[in-house]
Amino acid sequence: MARRRSKRKMPPLHEGPLERLEEGGKVEDGVLTQYRARILAKFIAKGEIDKIEFKLARGKESDIFVVKKGPSIDIEDEYLIIKAYRIERSEFFKSIRQYIVSDPRFSVVKSRYRLIDMWCKKEYGNLKVAEVAGIYAPKPFAARGNFLLMQYIHDDNMDPAPQLKDYRLSKPDETFNIIIDQIKKLVRAQLVHADLSPYNIIIKKDYNKELPYFIDFGQAVSIQHLRALEFLNRDIDNIYSYFVHEYKIDLDIDKIKNDIDKIFIEELNA
Ligand SMILES: Nc1ncnc2c1ncn2[C@@H]1O[C@H](COP(=O)(O)OP(=O)(O)O)[C@@H](O)[C@H]1O
Ligand SMILES: [Mg+2]
Repeated sequence: MARRRSKRKMPPLHEGPLERLEEGGKVEDGVLTQYRARILAKFIAKGEIDKIEFKLARGKESDIFVVKKGPSIDIEDEYLIIKAYRIERSEFFKSIRQYIVSDPRFSVVKSRYRLIDMWCKKEYGNLKVAEVAGIYAPKPFAARGNFLLMQYIHDDNMDPAPQLKDYRLSKPDETFNIIIDQIKKLVRAQLVHADLSPYNIIIKKDYNKELPYFIDFGQAVSIQHLRALEFLNRDIDNIYSYFVHEYKIDLDIDKIKNDIDKIFIEELNA
């Protein structure tokens, strides 16, 4: 696979990652307090990351950085992603409670900071489940504090995989079916993504294939969660409406939903 350096501007390499993050005095929404900086330094001390290259995106509740892989991570890729959850967002803090309350894997934690750290670990755990389920999703490597280290999903030129909403698919029916298949595999692994949308699916071009990677698993819930079935149906509806709107696909969505609901009930009774 030919690898070309992205045309994206990289920050000067002589600077340490922490200086670079703090560059311009920007400690973004509390991502990097001194305590948090120490946590980040651990990734370097443990040889998991070598340096922080650049900020790739500002998500709804996190900042996403491309980092150079350190020697202790066993993967061919040269670059990884650090997702840094912002710790000062109160709406986020309120909204994440609904996904944790009544998920038997988590007891409710009161401190905002502990909650964000727990949320980050939860995303790590959910990505592990996705990995075992064998779906397209970034492989997670470590979660520490509000930082999650995972695989960087990019194309052959090292450019980041675009969000589904910004990408024109060449075979929408085929991609839609892969997405449905992935939702089924997740349910068989007893997990519901719960925020599937054209933002949280990114398209990796792999030769002539367009692979839909699911990302952003923080809010994913166990099928035991009281509202798991509602979240599952909402995910399917969101994706289906997008494909109908953008690509005019015409499939028997009731049958698709029934099939998935059946798997859900089977798993719940297993
Ligand atoms: N592993 C990854 N590889 C490539 N791009 C990613 C990866 N994780 C996140 N991104 C990019 O960053 C954006 C925000 O990430 P996301 O996990 O959705 O954060 P948030 O929870 O803040 O919305 C994504 O829409 C995607 O474009
Ligand atoms: Mg997102």
